Amino acid sequence: MTEFGDDVAVVTGAGSGIGRATAGLLHSRGARVVVADINGSSARDVAAELGGGSLAVEVDVSDGRSVKSMIDSAVEAFGRIDVLCNNAGFGMRGTVVTLQEAEWDRLMAVNVKGVFLCSKFAMPHLISSGRGRIVNTSSYTSSVGIADRAAYVASKGAISALTRAMALDHVADGVRVNAVAPGTVDSPYFAAMIAAADNPSALRDELASRSPMHRMGEPAEIAEAIAWLASTRSSFATGSLLVVDGGTSAW
Ligand code: NAI
Repeated sequence: MTEFGDDVAVVTGAGSGIGRATAGLLHSRGARVVVADINGSSARDVAAELGGGSLAVEVDVSDGRSVKSMIDSAVEAFGRIDVLCNNAGFGMRGTVVTLQEAEWDRLMAVNVKGVFLCSKFAMPHLISSGRGRIVNTSSYTSSVGIADRAAYVASKGAISALTRAMALDHVADGVRVNAVAPGTVDSPYFAAMIAAADNPSALRDELASRSPMHRMGEPAEIAEAIAWLASTRSSFATGSLLVVDGGTSAW
């Protein structure tokens, strides 16, 4: 018997970075995995790499119809859903002065409403599972502020708060809801930002210096934490925020 037995896991934002590493880790530990991403071709590439027991689904987590269709596809393919990893999200520079209203709305729609919609449509299946688990990808910035990221920090604060609310709402249903709070992680999101910078090595050093370890995290290091919360080994954890940030929020 593998760690995840006959569990089915839906991972959003699984075409890249932390979501991709999470999909791979859960699959390697025996889960059947729905690789869901707005970028259909990267989702298909990841599912092709994983092989049997995976399914690529193109989804926009901010769109209820698209999310419902993703959940329907997962159940049609695998018959059940035991784990939902609400990982899709993105960051954006800006203060309340410089951010445009449409930018704020889009970020909130993906990062926060996306968690609501995916959880809403997956919940009946997670309850039926009898051992449902949700793991939300929040951020260390839900506990400490960083400059020039007003919408992003607000969205991650909302995810951490929603995690606690959902945990209480569904504890009697046997569904555990937790979140991971990564520090700065060397995912394709930051790789692109570094590559586009005027001075890439200075930006890389600046990002690394957020942590007293003086380095960025790796997607695989966050996937390990998500996988623990997604497993039945974390059976007494619900409503918790597991900070994995190389000590960033400790100093
Ligand atoms: P990434 O950019 O490598 O991966 C994010 C994935 O989400 C992409 O494949 C993208 O296509 C997908 N996505 C974006 N909008 C979507 C939508 N509307 N519907 C479905 N999929 C969508 O980024 P990374 O770094 O792996 O981030 C994953 C999560 O981790 C995000 O929620 C991010 O906020 C969070 N996080 C990342 C940190 C970092 O330093 N990289 C730190 C803390 C949290």
